This record gives sequence, structure tokens and C-alpha cells, in this order.
Amino acid sequence: MLAGMSGSPSSRIAPEVMGHYLQGREDGRLRSGRNRLEFWRTQDVLRRVLPPAPARVLDVGGASGVHAEWLAADGYDVELIDPVPTHVEQAGRLAGVVARLGDARALEAADASADAVLLLGPLYHLTTRGDRVRALAEARRVARPGGMVAAATISRWAAVHHMIRLDRYTDPAVREVADECARTGLLRENDGVGFTTAYFHDSDEIIGEFADAGLPDARRHALEGVFALYADIDEWLDDPERRALLLDVARRSEHEPTLLGVADHMITVAVVP
Ligand SMILES: C[S@@+](CC[C@H](N)C(=O)[O-])C[C@H]1O[C@@H](n2cnc3c(N)ncnc32)[C@H](O)[C@@H]1O
Repeated sequence: MLAGMSGSPSSRIAPEVMGHYLQGREDGRLRSGRNRLEFWRTQDVLRRVLPPAPARVLDVGGASGVHAEWLAADGYDVELIDPVPTHVEQAGRLAGVVARLGDARALEAADASADAVLLLGPLYHLTTRGDRVRALAEARRVARPGGMVAAATISRWAAVHHMIRLDRYTDPAVREVADECARTGLLRENDGVGFTTAYFHDSDEIIGEFADAGLPDARRHALEGVFALYADIDEWLDDPERRALLLDVARRSEHEPTLLGVADHMITVAVVP
């Protein structure tokens, strides 16, 4: 346990963040509709950067196991850590997945005990830079030298982009929250925006957070490109031929610097020195 962290993992996260996830919507979020793009792109990036199976993967902030499920089916030995008890219960029922309560800032795992540590979500809700670097440093400690750390971030302008797409940006209260997020990165809990308290990254700052956690030479991957903003994206995702074309373009443009902050999400990856 790191100094300064006390109480149970569930008690350490903000009550509104816990309340958001206790609504139980996370399990279905990536399985249907436009968010399937985030799911397939996450899968595409991870399948290329992870050490080959069998290997031990710690899925920190793994929620109900939407990624742990396919990682286990791919042959990985998956341990999922999450502070939300209902997530841990759901994930613990998946074949090949061990799930337990925990906090990304203080992992109860031995040094160098995993081949890869995933943080696909915790950085969204760690609103201070110190906490984000601490979570990344914990991932670095637990991943073995030569192993890998991958972390997802939400992009700075995502709230504004989506409020315009959904025609909610005309509401002054929604506009104020989304604009403040674009200015500072901090999203205040607000039903109109449809998420909870979070931090949205400027596309360059994650590199410094990785470096300060002892993870130099990190590489960013834009997940959705511009496609999450398209009105008719479901038609493309439903049609296997068009989906394959779209995923291919998203893959080929994932390192394009001008698109990094346009995508809703990035996954940043570093090999542990
Ligand atoms: C948006 S969900 C992402 C879930 C899943 N990994 C995915 O990629 O779809 C964010 C997850 O981070 C978890 N989380 C929030 N704060 C955390 C913390 N301090 N440590 C670990 N996980 C945390 C939440 O409980 C939630 O399951």
C-alpha cells in the first residue's frame, strides 16, 4: 500500500463516480451502438501491442470485464481490479478471469508480477496529475521489465464535440460544463453531458505523465479517429464490409498527429524499461 492511501478501494473514489457506475450501464456500453467502434479499436490496438498469450494481464479499472472476457478467451491469464463492487461481482463470473476490488493508485500486486498492466478507464476519473502519475507508476511497478503498460484517456474536446452532435450544446448549462471541460480538462458531474466527474486529456500531456511515472518513449494511438462524430456511424458498424474499411482507416491513421486529439479516446502504450 502506498503512503497516503487509506480506507477500502471503494471508499477512495468520489461518491458521484461510484454512483455513476452503480447504475450498472457499463457492461452494455461497448457492446452495441456507436460505442462498438471504441471496443473494436481497443481490441485491435491491444492485440498488436500485448505480449503474446499466454501472459499475465492486470486489467485495472476493467469494470464488468468487457475486455477481460475476450482477453481470457485469447489465452491470457487475466486479473481484473476495480473499485466498484458490482463490477467485480460481474467480472468474477467470467471464465478465466479473477476479479477483485482495488484502486489503480495502490495496487495490491507484487513488483514485476504481470506481463502487461492495462489502465482502460482509471485515468478518466483521477482528476489530479499527481494521482494519474501515481496510477501509472503503480502500473510500471507491477509490470515486469520488458512488459507493457497501456492507458486510455478521453480527449479534451470530446464533451463539446458530442454535445454539438447531440444538439445539446444550445443549452447554456450544458455548454458551460462542456466549455469548462475543453478549457481545463475537468468535467463536472452533470446529467446533461451524460458522464460523471472526469478528466479529459490534452493529447500531448499524457506523454509527460508516462515519463514522470518512469515510462519513457510512450506511443499514442487514436482510437476512433473522426468516426465517432459521424451521424450515421451505426450503418457502417452494422455492415461487415464497411466496418472493415472503417477500422482499417482508423488503424492506418492511429498515429497521425493531427487526429490524435480529434478521436474521443487515445490508448498510450509504453514498454517498461
Ligand atoms: C469508463 S469505465 C471503463 C471500463 C473498461 N475498462 C472499458 O474500457 O470499457 C472506467 C472504470 O474505471 C474504474 N475506476 C474509477 N476510478 C478508479 C480507480 N481509482 N482505480 C481503478 N479503477 C477505477 C471505474 O470503476 C470503471 O469501471
